[in-house]
Amino acid sequence: MKLADKILDIAKRRGFFWPSFEIYQGCSGFYTYGPLGALLKLHIESIIRDHYINKEGCLLIEAPTLTIEDPWIASGHVGSFTDMTTECEKCGEPYRADHLVEEQAGIDTEGMSMKQIEDQIRKHKVKCPRCGGALGKVYDYNLMFKTYIGPGKNKLSGAMRPETAQTTYMPFKRLVEIGRKRFPLGVLQIGRSFRNEISPRQGLVRLREFSQAEVQFFMHPKDKKDHPDFNGVRNLKLMTWTKNHQTKGKKPEMLKIGDLVKEKVVVKRIAYHLAKSVELFRKMGIDEKRMRLRQHRDDERSFYSSDTWDVEFVSDAFGRIELVGIADRTDYDLSRHQELSGKDMGVNLDGKNFVPHVIEVAYGIDRPVLCVIESCLKESRGRTYFTFPPSVAPYQVAVFPLVRKDGLPERARSVFRSLIDEGFFALYDEAGSIGRLYYRQDEAGTAAAITIDYQTMKDDSITLRDRDSQKQIRVKMTELVPVLKRFLKGEKIESLGKLIK
Ligand code: GLY
Repeated sequence: MKLADKILDIAKRRGFFWPSFEIYQGCSGFYTYGPLGALLKLHIESIIRDHYINKEGCLLIEAPTLTIEDPWIASGHVGSFTDMTTECEKCGEPYRADHLVEEQAGIDTEGMSMKQIEDQIRKHKVKCPRCGGALGKVYDYNLMFKTYIGPGKNKLSGAMRPETAQTTYMPFKRLVEIGRKRFPLGVLQIGRSFRNEISPRQGLVRLREFSQAEVQFFMHPKDKKDHPDFNGVRNLKLMTWTKNHQTKGKKPEMLKIGDLVKEKVVVKRIAYHLAKSVELFRKMGIDEKRMRLRQHRDDERSFYSSDTWDVEFVSDAFGRIELVGIADRTDYDLSRHQELSGKDMGVNLDGKNFVPHVIEVAYGIDRPVLCVIESCLKESRGRTYFTFPPSVAPYQVAVFPLVRKDGLPERARSVFRSLIDEGFFALYDEAGSIGRLYYRQDEAGTAAAITIDYQTMKDDSITLRDRDSQKQIRVKMTELVPVLKRFLKGEKIESLGKLIK
C-alpha cells in the first residue's frame, strides 16, 4: 500500500479523521475528526495557544466566522482573492488553470496572465485529466463563500471569513486600549476559516472549511527589524530555500538562521518567529529533518505582504505542505480599514502618530495533524504504532485489567478515575485480551499503559508499559502519579523502576 493510502486508511479505521457526508455522495474539501483526531488536534492547538499567550504575551480573542462583506472589500479579498479557473467543456469538471498547465505542459506559470494561461492551454493541447475533453475559457474565480444575513430587502451581504486576520484587525483600537497601549501588541485567534477551493483533492492539506491559529503582532515599523530574544534562536540550522535561490533554480541549503539575518535575507523579527514555529512543530513530534524554511518569491506573494516565509514539511506521502506562513503585512490592512470604515486606525506613541505595521504568524491546524501522524507512524515486527509525544498523544495513558474477573476490572476503573482526577488524559479499556488491548493503544499512540493484575490485589503495585520500547516496570500505587509524570516528561522507563523481564 502507498504511504498516503496507509495513513488515510489508519486515520479512518482508528477514528482520527475521514471524509465528511459519507452517507450521501460526500463532498471534497470537508473532513470530520473522529475521537482520536479531535483530541490530537486539540493538543496541537494547545501547544500553539499556550506558547503565544504565556511565552509571547499575546491576547486571545474569538470573533464570528460569518461576517458582513465590508471587511473583505477593504482587505482586497473581494477583488483579488481569486484563482484562475477553467472547466471541462464535456464533463464540467473545474480546474485550477495554471496548475493544470504546469502539470501537463511542464512549464512554470508563475506570473502569467489569464490570457497567457489560455494561450498555453491551446498551444500544449492541455485537456481535462478526467475525460480528455477540451477546456473552456479561463476566468477569475473568487474563493470566498458568500451569503446573506437576515431576510427581505434589508438583508446584508455576508461572507464566511477566508482568514481570521481581518476579524482581528477590525477591533484593533479596542485591543490597543485593553492591551494598555503596549507595543508590539500580539493578538491570537484560533478558529475556523472557509475557502471555496476549486477542486480540493489533498485531504487535510486543502480544505474548504479549516482551522487556523493566527497571531497578529502590531508594532511601529522600526520594531520589525529587531527582536529582543533573537539571540536565543540564532543558531537554528535548517534546510532553507530563499527567493533568490528559487529564482536562480538552486536547491534548498542547510543554513543557520543567524547567517540569513547577517546577510539581510530576513529581518530578525521574522527569523525569530520562524525559529519558534520550528520549535513548536518539533514539540508536536513533527520530524525536523523533513522541515524547511521557504521564502515566497515576489511573483507568488499575497497581495498584502512585503515579505513572507513559510515553514514547510516535505511529506513522503503528500508532497510539500505549508505549516505556517509568517508575513510582513505592513500597514496595508489597517490603512485599508481606515479608508473604508472612515474610523481612525492610528495610534499615538511617544508623541508620534502612526498606523501600526503587522507581522502575522499564520498556522493552519489541520495540516500539522497530518504531519504529526506521518512523522510518528512506525511499523516494526508486525506492530503499527504512533510515537506521539505525550503532550499531543490523544490519550497519555490507558488502564486495563489483566482479566475481566476477580475484582480486577473494579480495581482498574478506580485507578483510571484517580488518574483522571489528577488531570491525565486517560482511558479505560477491558474489551479484549491484554495483547489486543496493547495493540489497540499502540495504534492510537497512547504513550503509556497500566495493567492491573493479580499481584496488584496482593501488594498494590501495577505494571507501567512504554508504548515505544514495550518495556514494562512495576510501580507502587502510592508512587504512580509522580512516576507517570516523569515518564510523560520524557524520562526513560528503565530509569523509573526495575524492568520486568
Ligand atoms: N492570514 C493568512 C492566511 O490565511 O493565509
